[in-house]
Amino acid sequence: MKDFTEETALTQTDPRHDSAVKHVTGRAEYADDIPEPVGTLHAYLGLSTRAHARIRAIDLTRVRGAAGVVGVLSAADIPGINDVSPTGRDDEAIFATDKVEFWGQPIFAVVAESRDAARRAARLAEIDYEDLPPLLDIDAARAAGDGYVTPPLTLERGEPGPALAAAPHRIRGRMRVGGQDHMYLEGHIAFALPGEDDDVLVHSSTQHPSEAQHMVARVLGIRSNDVTVNVRRMGGGFGGKETQMNLFCAVAALAAKRWNRPVKLRPDRDDDMQATGKRHDFVIDYDVGFDETGRITALDGEFAARCGFSSDLSGPVTDRALFHADNAYFYPNVRLRSHPLRTNTVSNTAFRGFGGPQGVIAAERIIEEIAYSLGKDTLEVRRANFYGQPGDGRDLTPYHQSVEDNVIGRIVDELEASSDYQARRAAVLAHNARGGVIRRGIALTPVKFGISFTATWYNQAGALVHVYNDGSIHLNHGGTEMGQGLNTKIAQIVAEAFGVEFGRVKITRTTTEKVPNTSATAASSGSDLNGMAALDACQQIKARLVDFAAERWGVAPEAIRFEGGRVHVGDTTMRFEELIGAAYMARVQLSAAGFYKTPKIHWDRAAGKGRPFYYFAYGASVSEVSIDTLTGEYRVERTDILHDVGRSLNAELDIGQVGGAFVQGMGWLTTEELWWDKAGQLRTHAPSTYKIPLASDRPRVFNVALADWSENREPTIKRSKAVGEPPFMLGISVFEALSMAVASVADYRVCPRLDAPATPERVLMAVERLRGARA
Ligand code: MTE
Ligand code: MOS
Repeated sequence: MKDFTEETALTQTDPRHDSAVKHVTGRAEYADDIPEPVGTLHAYLGLSTRAHARIRAIDLTRVRGAAGVVGVLSAADIPGINDVSPTGRDDEAIFATDKVEFWGQPIFAVVAESRDAARRAARLAEIDYEDLPPLLDIDAARAAGDGYVTPPLTLERGEPGPALAAAPHRIRGRMRVGGQDHMYLEGHIAFALPGEDDDVLVHSSTQHPSEAQHMVARVLGIRSNDVTVNVRRMGGGFGGKETQMNLFCAVAALAAKRWNRPVKLRPDRDDDMQATGKRHDFVIDYDVGFDETGRITALDGEFAARCGFSSDLSGPVTDRALFHADNAYFYPNVRLRSHPLRTNTVSNTAFRGFGGPQGVIAAERIIEEIAYSLGKDTLEVRRANFYGQPGDGRDLTPYHQSVEDNVIGRIVDELEASSDYQARRAAVLAHNARGGVIRRGIALTPVKFGISFTATWYNQAGALVHVYNDGSIHLNHGGTEMGQGLNTKIAQIVAEAFGVEFGRVKITRTTTEKVPNTSATAASSGSDLNGMAALDACQQIKARLVDFAAERWGVAPEAIRFEGGRVHVGDTTMRFEELIGAAYMARVQLSAAGFYKTPKIHWDRAAGKGRPFYYFAYGASVSEVSIDTLTGEYRVERTDILHDVGRSLNAELDIGQVGGAFVQGMGWLTTEELWWDKAGQLRTHAPSTYKIPLASDRPRVFNVALADWSENREPTIKRSKAVGEPPFMLGISVFEALSMAVASVADYRVCPRLDAPATPERVLMAVERLRGARA
């Protein structure tokens, strides 16, 4: 394919999010806003109230008899396959039959004339359970003998055993890292409309319309070409709608076909939180060897994750944790192992970073251990361990990919200077030395994040572009819009390709009818993949237009330019729509399907070797915090971020992504705590008990900048880099700053070994523990 990345920069300033005004004025249409045809029914799920039990009997008589109820659906009503496992492992039934494996597992659905009636009726089921002992967390699962939901992975390079034995210094430790709820503003929803024959149309809030389509077909025992899935936009997905909507789509479609009426399924927030998967929590055991300078010589790491009752995406998520357990650091000898543990909890799933953050935070804890044991600044230890450049012997990752595009040194140097890190650190140390109740901490943490799906076949995309004979442009691509601005970026690419203004390109909903077999909009690769596919479609149409114009006006193809809404054909200039009108009359095809697949990547999981990532995105952040050592409460005083998005496709959108991801990462590590009771019921199942960051929790001073000198060394779309997930891990600087503030109470001689989330309670307990250590 031609390298189009060198094309001229945008002539116009970057447009704002195409739906920005609609978002804030309430005119953006979400799935629940679609007008309901007369006769629309509402479904509701009946959920398990046991974490682990045999089902002796299911009695739905009272559910069926409730006011407004049209009928119920359970496993026996599924004409196709009772499974929505995204990896085809056949371990995720839609409706449980003989056994329930987590609290909140769907057992049946009730369909009624109103949502309220369905919701009330769902509570009336009488289910006879025979309780079984549940394995609720990582410790219990390990004690019971490591039952895995999916095969574990080992990454190994060098000779970690001997190198550890020979290391001048060695530390072993453990870190617990909590999970996270997606807390999208719009919850799960599916709205199914029956068509003729086997046809069914499903409007859903999904990051993965093609998978929803394939799942509905499987469950209904029909074909993919009978099913259409549409999504105009999501009110946030964050990974929580990569697989979790499959069940909702399948149940709504099943009911729609069964009663031949439109059916909507929208759970309450509480049920959404209990019945759908979250970020995996981890217990990480590390054994690190290092020298006097703080350089790591060897590392052995065990990454145990609570996966829940089924595999879902736990394989690739725990793999990605290992792929990021190096963060920006070179490990000369290393062995990393994943333990994807089966538990009687909801099946955990994708969440921004996809396991990467859990790997990165382990690396940062290890850096802290080394720094406190040697009495050094953590930044000095970080620098001592950064990857080098190809050829210097410090460029190989634990998965044997060379880091070819390393810019972390430059990012960290620039941020250190622009944030005035050294002077502020000295001020923090001086403040703490005075010994008051309020202690401060500051930390600068780097991020390196690999871009591409590790499932290589996922790295493909399609797009469909039509130019209508009035010169207006219709764009469709396989990606989905969840607030990140993907549609805006792709429309910019199309407008620029034709040299026309942004407003000429119509942004349309994603639908499986226009672009088939798409991948999830995930792994941050939405614009990388779909942008290239859209450009490919534009280039095909442009090539036909150029051929036509060259012949019609008798000029060389090189003498034809598209810019500023006009087309220059030699000495003749015409408006874009004039050329289009003429081309239409001459029967030139004005529509094209584009395609793209990421080059260079390959991955051999069994060998633990390959090039799983096309390139890396980098960034760094500095956060300064204050903690109250009597209560454990804290606040973030200031955060400075420098992040690498290559050549930005849209700076405003990218800055929004970086700031938003940072705050979400900070929430994961500070206030967002998932808590299950002894029976296995998630008790933090609403915003009342699960605390995400508020506007008032954002850093008091918040400076976000993009590395404007950066460009992708690979020929990605306009030399940009993916932005969706990497900055999530910038939130780690807050966690590390809290840790430093805690460490001050024992004169920085002890690594606080804070676990995440560092809630005020945990900060207070760490302070008390360190005070004890000092005495
Ligand atoms: N930004 C907003 N506003 N809402 C979201 O749901 N999801 C994140 C990120 N940014 C998300 C978001 C996640 S998990 C991913 S993988 C990427 O966006 C997906 O979109 P992209 O590939 O277009 O970056
Ligand atoms: Mo993002 S977790 O890859 O949807």
